[in-house]
Formats: sequence, structure tokens, C-alpha cells
Amino acid sequence: MLNIENLSACYGYIEALKDVTIEAKQGQIVSIIGSNGAGKTTLLRCISGQLKPVCGKIKFLGELLPAQPHKVVQRGVVHVPEGRRVFSGLTVEDNLLVGGYLLKEKELHENLKRNYELFPILKERKNQFAGTLSGGEQQMLAIARGLMSNPKLILLDEPSLGLAPIIVNQVYDLIKQIRENGVTVLLVEQNARKALNICDKAYVIENGRIKLSGTGCELLNSEEVKKAYLGG
Ligand SMILES: Nc1ncnc2c1ncn2[C@@H]1O[C@H](COP(=O)(O)OP(=O)(O)OP(=O)(O)O)[C@@H](O)[C@H]1O
Ligand SMILES: [Mg+2]
Repeated sequence: MLNIENLSACYGYIEALKDVTIEAKQGQIVSIIGSNGAGKTTLLRCISGQLKPVCGKIKFLGELLPAQPHKVVQRGVVHVPEGRRVFSGLTVEDNLLVGGYLLKEKELHENLKRNYELFPILKERKNQFAGTLSGGEQQMLAIARGLMSNPKLILLDEPSLGLAPIIVNQVYDLIKQIRENGVTVLLVEQNARKALNICDKAYVIENGRIKLSGTGCELLNSEEVKKAYLGG
């Protein structure tokens, strides 16, 4: 479904991605794990058209993705950025409506209803300003807003960052639910154990390069991964 070939990206003279090749098949959860500054966010920004790669190809459903964010959304790819960026001065419901701005009225309301079923807490809080939600609720809202446009592929950047373990579990249950609903997930995480446990396929990125790949299970059992990412 998503095929990235030999992708390189720079910020000025800093080479943030080097010759990255990855693929995600339809219906999979694919994890990218790596430490601070490894290039995870940069990879997502290239896919969603926010950063133009220096070279390489990004194909989605067999066609190249345009390097314009709104066109990428139209093609069915949505990016949920790190740091739960919700519009804090808007209500929960208005945040969701913004996420569906490309949709027609009828579909918009159907999606809103479906999201409230998936996220009952957001329904309860629909008239509350997003800035007053807890961290975990804001993360749920950020993901729900991404789902409003009916994506085929959702890019999640560190959804567990800064959340209490119990809330992390809730977010991960939700990610499984999203896959069950037929949406492919590209999950970027520093929380390697969680990400490897949930995914079908994973890649380890270090200094902008893909260092290892395998099934979640293979990487959980890899000595290299254990030592560098799972605390020994
Ligand atoms: N706007 C920018 N300008 C210059 N350099 C940048 C910019 N954004 C990122 N970089 C650099 O590119 C490299 C990769 O950054 P990136 O944000 O992709 O890492 P990351 O894996 O997402 O890290 P983290 O886990 O901390 O979010 C880093 O060395 C970073 O300093
Ligand atoms: Mg990042």
C-alpha cells in the first residue's frame, strides 16, 4: 500500500534521512522505532507532503504521492503530529469538524457519529474547549480528528509520549481498533516495547538510516534491539 524507496531528506546541510526504504501493506500496523533525532518525524513529514525529499520515491496505492499536504489528505493519508496538537481554543466537536473539512455535510456527520462511538469520552466532552482536556484525552482527540477525513492510512507520531501507562494502554487498544476498522497504521514510537508488541512489521531507524527490520516478534527477540531499545 505504501512503498518508500531510497528516500533521503535534508534540513539545510543536515541529512536527516538517508536512503530509507520501507513498505506497509494494507491492514497492517507498521512501527518505526528510534531514539531522539533518529529521523522518525522527518519521515512522516515527507510522506504527508510537508517536507520535500532530496531524492527517493513515495508511492501510495501504486502512485506517487504529491508533495502538497492537502492533496495527500485527499488521497487518503492523514498525519497525526507529535505533541497532541489540538486547537485548544476550539471545542472538542469543532476540532473534529476541522478534521473533516474536505467532506460533504452528510459524510461529515456520519464520521462524527462514528468517531463518538469509537471515542465515547469525546462525546461526553464535545462542548468543552480542547485545551481543558487531559493529556490522554487530547491525544484521543488528535487521533479522532485525523480519522475524520476517512483515511486509508494514518501516520501516528509518538502517540504514547508523556502519557501514564494506563492511558498508553487505552491509546494502544484504540490503535488496534483502528486497524480492525480497515485503516492501515504507520506508528512512530520511542516506546519500542509497546510498538513492537502491537505491530505486524517494524523498522529500526538510527541516524536517518534503517538499521533493522522484521516482524514485531523478531525485533522483540533481537539482542541488538533488546540492548538499545528495551533496556537490556
Ligand atoms: N526544522 C528543522 N531544521 C533543522 N534540523 C531539523 C529540523 N527538524 C529536525 N531536524 C533535525 O533532523 C534530525 C531528525 O529529526 P526528527 O525530528 O525527524 O527526529 P525524531 O526521530 O522524530 O526525534 P524525536 O523522537 O525526538 O521526535 C535531527 O537531527 C533534528 O535535529
Ligand atoms: Mg519526532
